[in-house]
Amino acid sequence: MTLNQPRLNKAVIPVAGLGTRFLPATKATPKEMLPVVDKPAIQYVVEEAVSAGLLDVLMVTGRNKRPLEDHFDRNYELEDLLHRKGDTDRLARVCEPTSLADIHYVRQGDPRGLGHAVLCAASHVGNEPFAVLLGDDLIDPRDLLLARMIEVQARLGGSVVALMEVPLEKIHLYGSAAVRSTAEHGVVGVADLVEKPEPAFAPSTYAVIGRYVLDPEVFGVLAQTAPGRGGEIQLTDALRVLAQQGRVHGVVFGGRRYDTGDRADFLRTTVRLACEREDLGADFRNWLREFVDTELRTPDLVS
Ligand code: G1P
Repeated sequence: MTLNQPRLNKAVIPVAGLGTRFLPATKATPKEMLPVVDKPAIQYVVEEAVSAGLLDVLMVTGRNKRPLEDHFDRNYELEDLLHRKGDTDRLARVCEPTSLADIHYVRQGDPRGLGHAVLCAASHVGNEPFAVLLGDDLIDPRDLLLARMIEVQARLGGSVVALMEVPLEKIHLYGSAAVRSTAEHGVVGVADLVEKPEPAFAPSTYAVIGRYVLDPEVFGVLAQTAPGRGGEIQLTDALRVLAQQGRVHGVVFGGRRYDTGDRADFLRTTVRLACEREDLGADFRNWLREFVDTELRTPDLVS
């Protein structure tokens, strides 16, 4: 990073998706507000951005997303009630999301895909590198992925994607990257990207996971990107153009990633995070052990 370069401080979080996989829970509640243990999923993502030093957060929202704005705003009635009761613990938890970051909102209007959502951030972001965090992926706060990506972007320039190896039969759920190794452990050059390929056409089993640090040049490319897979403007397709110009690197992540994208993954995430909680974990783990030993003991497992 040169001395005059401003430190990257903007995060863009697309939250306009309809969350149809969680209906009816998401009929009147945004999927980002579903609680993972006792915190809405979106709060984990904002906390991750903040701990990487990104204090300017732009949410790209859509219709029916008002509860997100309310969650990160003050709730004077509730605060007053808890204050009068002297319930300082709960009061702190209610106030926490309000003071996390400087949060802005822009509406996507037509939901035309992830690439279009990122393009909606262009005038807020301006001509600086910025991060994109997708809410379906939670990264364990002990594993510093975003900070590493920011550092790599500052040093190498261009854009940086997060990559994780997945089984071949799962690659159709992700963007897949053709990579070449570099002298640096855990950093690869990205030569090509394909959005959600069939296994036979995947350039590798390196999947793009939901963290990006992007050069603002991506906006110009996105503006020219035609709808791709699913008839949507894909971020992967714009990054593919930049990858073919040698402008994309990948940081290979081997840490803890929790998927909240579909119901089964969401349940796994909730169980994992509940087990790790200081206040709930010990009791919950005991219950879980007992549950597995008794109720999940099928005759063929016993024999
Ligand atoms: C999006 C991207 C995909 C990426 C994935 C990571 O897909 O389009 O390239 O691999 O996020 O979670 P989505 O899961 O939103 O359909």
